[in-house]
Amino acid sequence: MNGLTDRLQMIADEIKQGETMADIGTDHGFLPLFLWENGISPSVIMCDISEPSLAKAKAAAGAYQFGQELDFRAGDGLKILRSGEVDAVVIAGMGGLLIRDILAADIEKTVSFGKYIFQPRNNAAHLRYWLVSNGFRIIKNQLVREGKFICEVITALPPKPSENGDMGLSDTLPSPDDPCWDLPEDLMSSQPDLAREYAAVKLGIEQKILEGMHRSSNVADCELRSVERRIDYFRSYGYEV
Ligand SMILES: C[S@@+](CC[C@H](N)C(=O)[O-])C[C@H]1O[C@@H](n2cnc3c(N)ncnc32)[C@H](O)[C@@H]1O
Repeated sequence: MNGLTDRLQMIADEIKQGETMADIGTDHGFLPLFLWENGISPSVIMCDISEPSLAKAKAAAGAYQFGQELDFRAGDGLKILRSGEVDAVVIAGMGGLLIRDILAADIEKTVSFGKYIFQPRNNAAHLRYWLVSNGFRIIKNQLVREGKFICEVITALPPKPSENGDMGLSDTLPSPDDPCWDLPEDLMSSQPDLAREYAAVKLGIEQKILEGMHRSSNVADCELRSVERRIDYFRSYGYEV
């Protein structure tokens, strides 16, 4: 197959030589096939809730023999994996809330895998908050341009199985609407130009929300303050369009 898009390549770069992986919501299967064909992952599991989507991955695999190294599974989220079956799990191209729900469905199984790479299409802040509240360590946040969009890629390590359960962290964390969950500071040092541009996109969204609030007669003070705080934060990145 041809090379990957920049977005999928960024995800592929998070998989280390020799790591087995499962791709949840694989659709066309490009990422796992690339990892397997290039000898990075000795075995890959392509998973999708939709049979027609999985059929695309099978078609992309073409003449390759399906078997232990190239496995195709239809089903919902992590339900079709056995605990600890792969080193790394990728969940890309879905909404952040759906990713969160997939992870929360069976937390014991979720923490049995070594590493996750997420590429939420939206609601990345909610996903980050959930991850940290549940003891995950976010080790990298990255941005990548795809067409007219800027996409987010999050690499995270789950807590050790013995540590799961109520981590008691929620009390000490910034609130879920804190903009630090939208634009974590490491992005500013690692990808300052794209982070500034992304901050400007977020700033535009919040300004529209604020305009709507000003038109409405029924907005709580705390909601208004929250949006104003988010605007200040995104503006502090110093880039407006
Ligand atoms: C937009 S595609 C993303 C394809 C690929 N991962 C990418 O990032 O380019 C989303 C895929 O997720 C699948 N999907 C949605 N909900 C799912 C779930 N709960 N479990 C597994 N797959 C799911 C859809 O059928 C679809 O094929």
